[in-house]
Amino acid sequence: MSLKSAGTMFLQSSVGRAARTVCAEALISTGIIDGIFGRRVFSAYDYMFSPRQLILFTQCLSEARDVPGCCVEVGCAYGQTTGFLRKFMDESGITKDYYAIDTFRGFVQGQVDYEVEQRSKNRHGITVSFVTNKKKWFDKSLKVAGINSVWSIECDATKFDFDRIGPIAFALLDVDLYLPIIDILPKLYRNLSAGGILLIDDCKPHELWDGALVAYEEFASRMNFEPKIVLDKIGVVRKS
Ligand SMILES: C[S@@+](CC[C@H](N)C(=O)[O-])C[C@H]1O[C@@H](n2cnc3c(N)ncnc32)[C@H](O)[C@@H]1O
Repeated sequence: MSLKSAGTMFLQSSVGRAARTVCAEALISTGIIDGIFGRRVFSAYDYMFSPRQLILFTQCLSEARDVPGCCVEVGCAYGQTTGFLRKFMDESGITKDYYAIDTFRGFVQGQVDYEVEQRSKNRHGITVSFVTNKKKWFDKSLKVAGINSVWSIECDATKFDFDRIGPIAFALLDVDLYLPIIDILPKLYRNLSAGGILLIDDCKPHELWDGALVAYEEFASRMNFEPKIVLDKIGVVRKS
């Protein structure tokens, strides 16, 4: 008998069930482990966006369904939003490719240095975020959720050649810091098809993540359009 099937048999036995219950009760009552591998244990809502923000994304995806090009999420972390949006697309018959790009190990050193040295941010707060991750885990999480049609790409997105994914119909840019956003925004915009929509997260004042707001406003001024920030923090860019 393999170790895996022996483990499964134990977990399904009454002793196994009792052991699982004791562990779960201990976790809930002590709060020792509130989160692990980017998931919040016992949280009934594990998204980094509010319901209205997620609904906005689905509306934008629907609006862009006939716009030529793919969908891309730059900064996909553990895959919660990716899974939600890919499932929405599948359910809605939106057959576009979905690319998910991340370092899968948190922020890039030089981009953090800039936040600390030029924008007076707290290094620790930034460097501890999103580090416990792997592309392999991201892929597995999607697979477990029954999702097999996301192309995950591991890289510093500022080094990525966006021409590799061709025209873009919908993009979610969620990498939080000034340098990657001011670098990637024009690249996404260049490849955005007419009618396409580009959303930028974290466009609001914040002690750590307001580099997104500064980069978005700078880009808007450079491109000569009025910044539009909706639902508290989502910057919107459209191409006509
Ligand atoms: C706020 S999280 C993304 C959350 C995700 N969109 C969601 O809704 O679940 C930010 C992610 O950006 C990634 N990131 C930051 N800088 C990056 C860079 N230069 N290239 C690629 N990924 C980056 C981090 O690793 C982290 O996973």
